[in-house]
Amino acid sequence: MRHLVSIEDLSREEIEEVFGLTDDAKNGHIRKYDELGLKAGLLFFEPSTRTRQSFENAFKELGIETMGFASSAGTSIEKGESKGDTVMLYVKSYGCNFIVVRSKERGVARYFMKLVGDEACIINAGDGANEHPTQALLDLYTIKELHGKIDGLIVGFMGDLRNSRVYHSNLLALLNYDINEIILICPETLRLPFYYELRLKMAGVSYRYASITEWKEIIKEMDVLYVTRIQKERFSDPLEYERVKGSYRLTLESLDGAKDNLIILHPLPRIDEIDLRIDQTPYAAYWKQAENGYWVRIGLIEWLVEENYG
Ligand code: NCD
Repeated sequence: MRHLVSIEDLSREEIEEVFGLTDDAKNGHIRKYDELGLKAGLLFFEPSTRTRQSFENAFKELGIETMGFASSAGTSIEKGESKGDTVMLYVKSYGCNFIVVRSKERGVARYFMKLVGDEACIINAGDGANEHPTQALLDLYTIKELHGKIDGLIVGFMGDLRNSRVYHSNLLALLNYDINEIILICPETLRLPFYYELRLKMAGVSYRYASITEWKEIIKEMDVLYVTRIQKERFSDPLEYERVKGSYRLTLESLDGAKDNLIILHPLPRIDEIDLRIDQTPYAAYWKQAENGYWVRIGLIEWLVEENYG
């Protein structure tokens, strides 16, 4: 059984296969699996708008039945049932072949994978501050679609590098590519966890931290600028959050001197880190990115069906 717990579960060739299926889907070639009688459980113990909705739409489009919940409120989690038992219910009792799961505990998707073994395919839709591999897939797909390539680009990541699971999966995904340079822009206390820096170093990727004071210089270099919100829910100390809140904000003026084909990505939700006026510029790729969430998830599910149930 192939699962998608970490973006590292896929090789570059496999990522490209998913992108190929995504292109096919966009061109109108969507596979139909009604006759296989497959079912998917969408178990969202943490909030989600885009990830949950696009998975649901994608499964339905492919003829795969969906069930599950968008919040643990109203489920037996409130009575003290464990998340493991909840997952087992959807697999053992309801016959789900796919479990798409989002939860706040780091590493929990891998635990669920061990729990269900070969009985269902686990897709990690975000496990705490650890990883969000399907988001990285749609981000890379969007970069490739808009720039025509991923190799050779200069990519900036601005925001909460410590806690953003989106950034963690993106950085690991980029290790498959020949990136020109990665520029990391964040408050001092929100730098990458040591592990990710180690991976960048081991892979020989050129990366550096830059401060907002160097902004005018660095914005000129970038082909992609990825922005995220500060992950408030990951802070155990609310005062620590207050200290970094609002510490960076992309304004229209801050884009003076940027390359014409710069693309700005954001996984959304946005709080205040991107000026609404940027939405009207050709730089803003985040709505396209969210739309691609649906298409890439179609490509991914098709790939997983072929691998596991084909
Ligand atoms: C992200 C997440 O859940 O990690 N959202 C998403 O899936 N588009 C980013 C975030 O919440 O900031």
